[in-house]
Amino acid sequence: MSKEKNISPGSVPPERLLPLDAVAELKRLAKEIAYHDTAYYQQDAPAISDAEYDALRQRNAAIENIFPSLVRSDSPSKKVGASISENFSKITHAKPMLSLANAFSTKDVVNFLEKTRRFLQLPEDEIIDIMAEPKIDGLSVALRYENQRLVYGATRGDGSTGEDVTANVRTIAEIPRTLPADAPDVLEVRGEIYISKSNFLKLNEIQAKEGGKVFANPRNAAAGSIRQLDSSIAARRPLQFFGYAWGETSVPIENTVQNIRQKFIDWGFKLNEPSVLCSTVDELNVYYNKIISMRPNIPYDLDGTVYKINKISWQERLGQVSRSPRWAIAHKFAAERAETIVNDIVIQVGRMGTLTPVANLEPVNVGGVIVSRATLHNEDEIIRKDIRKGDRVIIQRAGDVIPQIVSVIFERRLKNSQSFVFPNNCPRCGSKALRKEGEVARRCTGGFICPAQGMERLKHLVSRDAFNIDGLGGRIIEKFWEEGLVRTPGDVFRLKNNAKTLLQSEGWGEKSVKKLLESIEEGRRIDLSSFIYALGIPQVGQATAKLLAYHYGSSERLLGSIYATKSTDGESIDALVQIDGIGTSIVEDLTAFFNEQHNQDAIKDLISEVKVSDSFVEVSHNSPIFGKVVVFTGSLEGMGRNEAKARAEVLGARVSSAISTKTDFVVAGKGAGIKLRKAKELGITILSEEDWVEYISQP
Ligand code: IVH
Repeated sequence: MSKEKNISPGSVPPERLLPLDAVAELKRLAKEIAYHDTAYYQQDAPAISDAEYDALRQRNAAIENIFPSLVRSDSPSKKVGASISENFSKITHAKPMLSLANAFSTKDVVNFLEKTRRFLQLPEDEIIDIMAEPKIDGLSVALRYENQRLVYGATRGDGSTGEDVTANVRTIAEIPRTLPADAPDVLEVRGEIYISKSNFLKLNEIQAKEGGKVFANPRNAAAGSIRQLDSSIAARRPLQFFGYAWGETSVPIENTVQNIRQKFIDWGFKLNEPSVLCSTVDELNVYYNKIISMRPNIPYDLDGTVYKINKISWQERLGQVSRSPRWAIAHKFAAERAETIVNDIVIQVGRMGTLTPVANLEPVNVGGVIVSRATLHNEDEIIRKDIRKGDRVIIQRAGDVIPQIVSVIFERRLKNSQSFVFPNNCPRCGSKALRKEGEVARRCTGGFICPAQGMERLKHLVSRDAFNIDGLGGRIIEKFWEEGLVRTPGDVFRLKNNAKTLLQSEGWGEKSVKKLLESIEEGRRIDLSSFIYALGIPQVGQATAKLLAYHYGSSERLLGSIYATKSTDGESIDALVQIDGIGTSIVEDLTAFFNEQHNQDAIKDLISEVKVSDSFVEVSHNSPIFGKVVVFTGSLEGMGRNEAKARAEVLGARVSSAISTKTDFVVAGKGAGIKLRKAKELGITILSEEDWVEYISQP
């Protein structure tokens, strides 16, 4: 154990690392961070301080940022934490979690101050200090610390009872797991879990690419992420935390909000800034207007400001009315609106082929931001609001992120204006754009041949969980795409024919070209489920790909069956729908994808370049490992990690990446280290690769 503890955080600055050193360094960091994660998540006994741990993660992130193509499949940036499998249990808040009353105008703020003075019976000349803070739009949680250790995290719920989201909360780096000794023995810090505006956009891009849920705004994304049952998913979401209030405490923290904020900072919490101590309505208004002007540059969503009586003894006297304290008020932002003209309506094609109508507007200032485009969401929205080219419209910046058209000023509509006709074909590639029943979006079926989708699909094709071609990361695909070297999946495997061109490219030498071509050769062999996943079919993530692979067993059977499908009521469709876990919506996406001739051609071409190995048959319910939890560690010689995992899953096991007391078997391959040691400590059955193969081959 002490060996890992003493590993230095790495002395060479990330920007000075050579690619090969970066590979080694990322491997070392992955191992070390995994060790500390296990210590923290499974034993609740961190071996290093939060700051040291953060430094390791920051270094890992900095190196990955410089070398995106070297990001490991087991990178700490991808997964942290232990999985939880049960639904959330409930936690009763020691003190109810209240909400805030709203002020929508200066008059409301004046009323708040007057009422406070009256209630406290303070003379006119008595100064009432008020702490003004930004009102962040996220999800409120309570963090309970006992003896300076985080014991739980709970959502607000109905105010008296919330959900136990401890496992997810523990994956948030900004939430201290331990507090300094001067923190009270019982301390409940309350605050907001949120996702920044830029991380929200990145997250949605990833979600769209992986066929996951695309969130409407950062608040929904934060709420959805903290309520994930699998904490390894929450861990991958860019959640952050601001502390701004408290619940039960064993001793009073301090006598003013200002001092308590300072304590929170001392104890390692992040606070929303700028906060200003004010004492008049004018000062509050100056603060409010300042926040409005800063709003576009504040990295997270705000929906107002919050004013809190600074003196805690006054707060206590004021108490609460219904579900809000009398000592605080939220001064909400008005929706920012403006009038402008729709110059054009254009269709954008997203990376997953979704057609989104966008209005090009006459640029207009909306609350300090120049807006020249507004989303029209989908074709129904255009019809519902009857938005046409040339219309005068009212626009609004909603939730601080995407400007929207609120309404058309019909009186000012041009005489010759015409209704907008939504195209049935993709404006980028001409393929059919289909709208499934019950869905609002129309999607291009062009797949690989659509330039809007092609490059992203190729990035997905070569990614770790797909063809896993080392050294062919996002930037290289972009470069090769622009140079016309790769345009279809098959092109990737024909790059060897372009070795000369590659050698002449900037940044490429004999060694690097050789290495790249070698990894492409290695990548030619792929298992069926990774192959299906690699195709990047909407809604077909790894799990669905696995189901299809188990069901069909071979690429021939899969493609033969799907190509035979010509309409949504064919026999093969019925067969598909009968696969447990595959609903009609996925079937429609599958058939739309495979029915496009371009996609059929691209797949046929790809198949001629690669070797897709058959999958194993149905999940067995009477295998010796049915229902067991298995962890693979070290490198397996007989089969790739993905295949080993798939095989175990077919036999009904659950494959986990972290060792815990719930682990039944650890299969230790070559070079197994920390996990193997941990397994020994916990007395878990350890199998060699050979033992494992023998064990699962039992009749
Ligand atoms: S103080 C008694 N301060 O806004 C309630 N709340 O609309 C103590 N919020 O439930 C809350 N920023 O989730 C406080 N600086 C801030 C806040 C803030 C956002 C949230 C909080 C609250 C909601 C009310």
